[in-house]
Amino acid sequence: MAGKSPRSVAIESGIAVGLVTMLATGVALWGNGIEGQWWLPPLSGAAVGTVCFVLVYRQLGLYIQERVRIIYKTIRRLKGSTSHVNLDLRDDIVEQVNRDVMSWAESQIEEITILRETDTFRQEFIGNLAHELKTPIFNIQGFILTLLEGGMEDPEINRRFLLKAAKNVERMSGLLEDLDVITKMEAGNLDIELVPFDLLDILRETMESLEAKAKRNNIQLRLKKGIDGSKIMVKGDASKLVQVLTNLIVNSINYGKEGGHTEVRYYDADDSVLVEVADTGIGIRESDLPRVFERFYRVDKSRSRHAGGSGLGLAIVKHILESHGQTISVRSTYGEGSTFSFTLQKA
Ligand SMILES: Nc1ncnc2c1ncn2[C@@H]1O[C@H](COP(=O)(O)OP(=O)(O)OP(=O)(O)O)[C@@H](O)[C@H]1O
Ligand SMILES: [Mg+2]
Repeated sequence: MAGKSPRSVAIESGIAVGLVTMLATGVALWGNGIEGQWWLPPLSGAAVGTVCFVLVYRQLGLYIQERVRIIYKTIRRLKGSTSHVNLDLRDDIVEQVNRDVMSWAESQIEEITILRETDTFRQEFIGNLAHELKTPIFNIQGFILTLLEGGMEDPEINRRFLLKAAKNVERMSGLLEDLDVITKMEAGNLDIELVPFDLLDILRETMESLEAKAKRNNIQLRLKKGIDGSKIMVKGDASKLVQVLTNLIVNSINYGKEGGHTEVRYYDADDSVLVEVADTGIGIRESDLPRVFERFYRVDKSRSRHAGGSGLGLAIVKHILESHGQTISVRSTYGEGSTFSFTLQKA
């Protein structure tokens, strides 16, 4: 029956039975020597054929409705859908059911894959978090033990170790703060208010606040003008965008080279403004580029650990920009420098 609709099966059965009946009636008339009733064979053939068609069509229809509906019911129940099953007996129902079951199976596989990924992701996240917290806690433990074991008596040592412990506490609280931001953003609880503000104001303010840090690392901070005008109005959450710029500029300093520079640029891009943070730092290998926005991802763990990074900065940056309906991209030449660019909607 594959490839045939229930209706065509019923028609074919009707025709076949009709033809056989017509032939049998003809033979019977001829055998009994009855003549002059030539109309009887086609009439009986047509009548029996029609009855046969109706019976087959009805029975087949009932059977399919019953059986196929069970399959659909199972699928719909699992899918949580209550929509009505509409079977057309003029179609190839087996093929139709096959198609629907296949698409259902595919969606199930997709769902399972997503669930598995989420689970792996959750495990990784907890693992990373434990790992990140372990270092500062062990350090603090070590400093406190040294103090308790006599260091406290030595005025030189006690101050130094307390300062070290305080620095580790600071690192831990920074990490927890970042985690709080990222969790809120992922749960969609981050309130982003799109308000017009002057981008130049924020660029200058952020660069000024990081000037001292850049100087300490012997890196020059520059602003490159790409649009004329003393004000560049864009729409967004100014305090969140300060965080974006800060994270990007701090990265450019942490992963910069002494004597190098970081250039913050802005350009006109139709109804948006393109902002770039370009450095002459260590650069990022092409294989690492797609991963730098992942949480906890660090290219060079030992170096970042030294710089106090936990690998959350760019993940936060990406989230903030996405909640503004914007995207961020990065290009880099390993050993020469990196450029991070994102857009903001003009106000
Ligand atoms: N400007 C850059 N130049 C070279 N590498 C960079 C640059 N910015 C980021 N990276 C690489 O990408 C990784 C992820 O950056 P991200 O800002 O997310 O984390 P982090 O700086 O290590 O820690 P955090 O920002 O949370 O303190 C960094 O560890 C670093 O290896
Ligand atoms: Mg960073």
